[in-house]
Amino acid sequence: MALCGILLCTLIASLFGGLYLLGMFRRRRPGEPPLDKGIIPWLGYALDFRKDASRFLKKMQRKHGDIFTVLIGGYYFTFVLDPSCFGAIVKESRSKLDFRTFASKLVWQVFGYKPIEANHTIIQASSTKHLMGDGLTVMTQATMENFKKLMLFNLSSGEEKQVWQEDNLFHYCYNIVFRAGYLALYGTQQHQGAENKEKANEQDRIHSNEMFHEFRKYDRLFPRLAFAVLPPKDKIEAERLKKLFWSMLSVKKNWQKDNISGWISDQNQLLAENGVPEYMRDRFMFMLLWASQGNTGPTAFWLLLYLMKHKEAMKAVKDEVDKVSRESAQEAKPGTPTINVTKDMLNQTPVLDSALEETLRMVAAPILVRAVLEDISLKTSSGTEYTLRKGDRIALFPHLSVQMNPEIHPEPHEFKYDRFINPDGTKKYFYKNGKRVKYFSMPWGAGVSICPGRFFASTEIKMFVFLMLSLYDLELVNREEEIPAIDVSRWGFGTMQPVRDVRFRYRLRF
Ligand code: HEM
Repeated sequence: MALCGILLCTLIASLFGGLYLLGMFRRRRPGEPPLDKGIIPWLGYALDFRKDASRFLKKMQRKHGDIFTVLIGGYYFTFVLDPSCFGAIVKESRSKLDFRTFASKLVWQVFGYKPIEANHTIIQASSTKHLMGDGLTVMTQATMENFKKLMLFNLSSGEEKQVWQEDNLFHYCYNIVFRAGYLALYGTQQHQGAENKEKANEQDRIHSNEMFHEFRKYDRLFPRLAFAVLPPKDKIEAERLKKLFWSMLSVKKNWQKDNISGWISDQNQLLAENGVPEYMRDRFMFMLLWASQGNTGPTAFWLLLYLMKHKEAMKAVKDEVDKVSRESAQEAKPGTPTINVTKDMLNQTPVLDSALEETLRMVAAPILVRAVLEDISLKTSSGTEYTLRKGDRIALFPHLSVQMNPEIHPEPHEFKYDRFINPDGTKKYFYKNGKRVKYFSMPWGAGVSICPGRFFASTEIKMFVFLMLSLYDLELVNREEEIPAIDVSRWGFGTMQPVRDVRFRYRLRF
């Protein structure tokens, strides 16, 4: 009898413990944001969120307002959609709001890399040195060399200029931008003597293309991998690809290359000095590949597509590109369809800058997450003060709350190439209810976790578009082609991708 009693008590205790862990007993405390746990224990709204995060968040915003807490896969996320709170969140001290807790888990799950304490500092230091300022000038030259290697080889101008070539725009942009960026960062084939240079270039073209094709396979699996919902067959494929990249990008293989960037070599060295073993550094190189190459190609695609769909925008950007080329004596001419785009030239393109910013506003959609390490309070624009609970997570989704907000950006679904500049070329300010909005577009994130590669990324994309417009006439095969919808399974991971590709054609201008 006594045994039965003990068993019953244990069973009840386990049941309550389980329900507690599933979040069944959580109640909204006074001063906390509205709480919505959904109806499925533990999972909460995980399925709705994964299916189409933006749609789900819009629905929640209509139901609860600009701040609400939802249960997603065992975690309570407080979504803050009021832009006036962004400054307080992104500037909050790391002892209260920490971005590493969430990022570390994801990086381990997706790339097999276990970050160390100094990781963030190492990334920041190397990026400041090599992807900004003088370091960026070096990287710009390296990237230009690789764009030339990929785009300008085998080019014959003159009689053949009338020949149109057709391709898929998304694939074309992603392929070229990925390969140029990859070669500029991770280095090129070694060669001795000028006579072997062309052979090495050909090797670079072949190798970078293979790399791209494997990368795309991983890229396609990425959202489901991050949500840990891959079916067994895809899981095996993801494991195969992970191992392939660890090996292809391994520290040992890297040392057999020429022109390896300071960004890559410094980070490897600093990690080694901090005791990270070589096999882990191989994995880190894979993480860097994804961070550096996963968004630039897709962004270049959207920018070129919007330009092709908007004649006035295309003309304005093309006029600017031609003017800068002319003034820098870099015009492509009949017989010499070659051009050297420099950092200086890319500093003189306010119209292209605005077109890129507009593209990012429309298609860059990261979700920024911080772990709440101590209870904190947050004041909204209406004056309400909320307490956010220790152990929860805070999430921002600027695509919905600012970038597509009609109060900040009128007609947010329209591509307006000059939205970000005044007629005199200076930068515009943005307002909501008459108050200036500081965070009016956040494609790069903000605060401590802001993208350290943002200046290099802009340079690569602008350089690619500059080259495409200088060298080619471009048009859509079907002029009436609708802009494809975005793949809603990718919200939160950076630049969105289209659900289908778009046919386009190009021919040499000279
Ligand atoms: C259009 C292109 C790009 C976009 C939209 C983009 C966006 C972002 C965003 C939103 C984050 C921060 C995520 C967060 O707060 O959790 C991030 C992080 C990062 N990005 Fe970028 N990025 C781009 C290109 C690049 C490039 C070209 C590089 C390097 C060459 C790069 C390197 C990184 C790294 C290393 C991190 C992680 C930083 C850390 O953990 O401290 N990104 N990026």
